[in-house]
Amino acid sequence: MLNADTTDPAVLRELIAAELEAARTRTAGLTDCVEDGELTAQHSPLMSPLVWDLAHIGNQEELWLLRNVGGRDPMHPEIDPLYDAFEHPRAERPSLPLLPPDQARAYAHEVRGRVFDLLAASPLEGAPLLDAGFAFGMIVQHEQQHDETMLITHQLRTGPAVLTAPPPPPAPDGPLPAEVLIPAGPFTMGTDTEPWALDNERPAHRVDLPAYWLDTTPVSNAAYQEFIADGGYRDPRWWTAEGWAHRQRAGLEAPLFWSREGGQWLRRRFGTVEPVPGDEPVLHVSWYEADAYARWAGRRLPTEAEWEKAARHDPVADRSRRYPWGDESPGPEHANLGQRHLRPAPVGGYPAGRSPYGVRQLIGDVWEWTASDFTGYPGFRVWPYKEYSEVFFGPEYKVLRGGSFAVAPVACRGTFRNWDYPVRRQIFSGFRTARDAEAG
Ligand SMILES: [Fe+2]
Repeated sequence: MLNADTTDPAVLRELIAAELEAARTRTAGLTDCVEDGELTAQHSPLMSPLVWDLAHIGNQEELWLLRNVGGRDPMHPEIDPLYDAFEHPRAERPSLPLLPPDQARAYAHEVRGRVFDLLAASPLEGAPLLDAGFAFGMIVQHEQQHDETMLITHQLRTGPAVLTAPPPPPAPDGPLPAEVLIPAGPFTMGTDTEPWALDNERPAHRVDLPAYWLDTTPVSNAAYQEFIADGGYRDPRWWTAEGWAHRQRAGLEAPLFWSREGGQWLRRRFGTVEPVPGDEPVLHVSWYEADAYARWAGRRLPTEAEWEKAARHDPVADRSRRYPWGDESPGPEHANLGQRHLRPAPVGGYPAGRSPYGVRQLIGDVWEWTASDFTGYPGFRVWPYKEYSEVFFGPEYKVLRGGSFAVAPVACRGTFRNWDYPVRRQIFSGFRTARDAEAG
């Protein structure tokens, strides 16, 4: 995978081609496994029909690579408005005259063929969009992000299972400390050097933090069940005012996809109903639920800066790593990424992926809600368009960090930021908790 030392255009071209292929293989896997009727259906008002994602992937690729980088004319200008995410909210998309599945596939395929011609001829330098293949990297990440979105649609879809994957590796034996102390001091947050980092990850800047304790692992289903059993969903003391209002309005009583049968919690996971595994990180909780759990536990959600310091800071070298384990791109031994498994790994897993402070599973498994609103870093500059990040800055979005089992390695790093509304829980979201060191 790409890093700051990848400068040879031939190597870069090969790497981009491999990432484009990997993304398309995954897209095909998520759309070829169901009948056309399921591609055009809307499985939830929160999501687009899968066939919209498919043509939108092709349309963004045409727009950014063929037109903006390659200077080509639009292939089908009449379809552009249909696939503009800002013009049509998801709930509206099924009523649009979308390309049917065969035409959507053919369009995306045709765009891709032309993109490979463009890539072969591109110097991959000499313009900001081209340097280090940035626009290609942005499009690869875009497709992989839509693949995660499509996997969410698969999770919301009812009906028999159509996706399979082997289980993740078990957690190694031996108890871990429940929490880890991160000593006070400054660290470098964000990046100036990650070639395919997006605007909201930039620039690198120093942040000084007081000492804090952070959970060694994400909060498990077993721990979360204690919150439920203790009446956590019925006690307004643990909730913010907005969180409590939402809990009542939406009738929340457990994570999304959970149900109770006899004395047992069950969950539906990609078409299969199974007992909730106590040792896995809790999944499909909203920010409000995560925040309430933390208060019930006498703790709080970590800020985004606290999450990133625990994930990247090397206290010996006083530098920030690309990933908790170092600068090496993620391998299967480091983290549960890339839809290699269709579930998070048990808490305590992936010892090779731990951070210098000994924190586990920061990358992969579940997106982790943080206490922080989504904002620009000091010195933020829009790049390459304001709808990527800037239009979302503000208190209505909370930041999630670390990626989930559904996130591709190319779209995940220690600086990567995701954001969503605090009510959202169809996403692959979990959390870990923190507390001030002074609080004893
Ligand atoms: Fe998109």
